[in-house]
Amino acid sequence: MAAVEGRHSVRRFTTDPMPRDDVREMVRLATLAANAGNAQPWRFVAVDDPALLAAMRDAVEARMDEMAGWPEAEAAGPLAATRAMRGYSTFFADAPLAIAVLGLPYESHGDRLLAAHGVPREERDRLRARPDLQSVGAAVQLLVTAAHVLGYGACWMSAPVLAARRLEELLGVEEPARLVALVAAGRPAGRPAATPRLPVAEVLRFLPPEPESDCGPERP
Ligand SMILES: Cc1cc2nc3c(=O)[nH]c(=O)nc-3n(C[C@H](O)[C@H](O)[C@H](O)COP(=O)(O)O)c2cc1C
Repeated sequence: MAAVEGRHSVRRFTTDPMPRDDVREMVRLATLAANAGNAQPWRFVAVDDPALLAAMRDAVEARMDEMAGWPEAEAAGPLAATRAMRGYSTFFADAPLAIAVLGLPYESHGDRLLAAHGVPREERDRLRARPDLQSVGAAVQLLVTAAHVLGYGACWMSAPVLAARRLEELLGVEEPARLVALVAAGRPAGRPAATPRLPVAEVLRFLPPEPESDCGPERP
């Protein structure tokens, strides 16, 4: 409970470096995640070189600039949202460490059968719900939780993936691996705030439904 409840996204870090043995331990714990077919469709690239982190930030900023210049940018929302997006996309470069999380393709017997039967990609994604990405997500959740347990803070980031093509070049990512997320990590500067959650009653329903009265289940 402490590991799960004490974790919050951390976006500001001290300059303390993160020992590589701690990075290895975080990733070891992340790889204990449940994953489809135990295919372990994940790889991790840990970047603790400030020059490379700065180059990655430049790539993300260039991509944001490019997207802000698209004719559709205004219709998509106010400029302030674009600015906020920039802040939420680049702070990894001020962390002592960013871990690029890569996903690998995963194909089960069911996937092959659906494809062979001619089921279109969109319907296949609907029926399979991307077990490859679910698996990587499970690992990222454990990665950020492991960071917390080891006394660090971390933030799971998907916004920088908008610059995936350039980031993959900088990181030497080779096909078929794809950048799925970045995780910024380091010692937290300050106490991260807890974000609210919906009440369990709003996100969970039982079948069959429970009786509405609070007097417990009806007796015959
Ligand atoms: C898939 C995913 C993508 C996210 N991307 C970003 C991001 O790009 N930038 C960011 O600052 N936070 C990002 N977050 C962190 C969420 O904003 C954060 O988890 C959420 O607000 C709940 O707060 P908590 O992590 O402190 O509980 C991401 C989280 C997830 C799971």
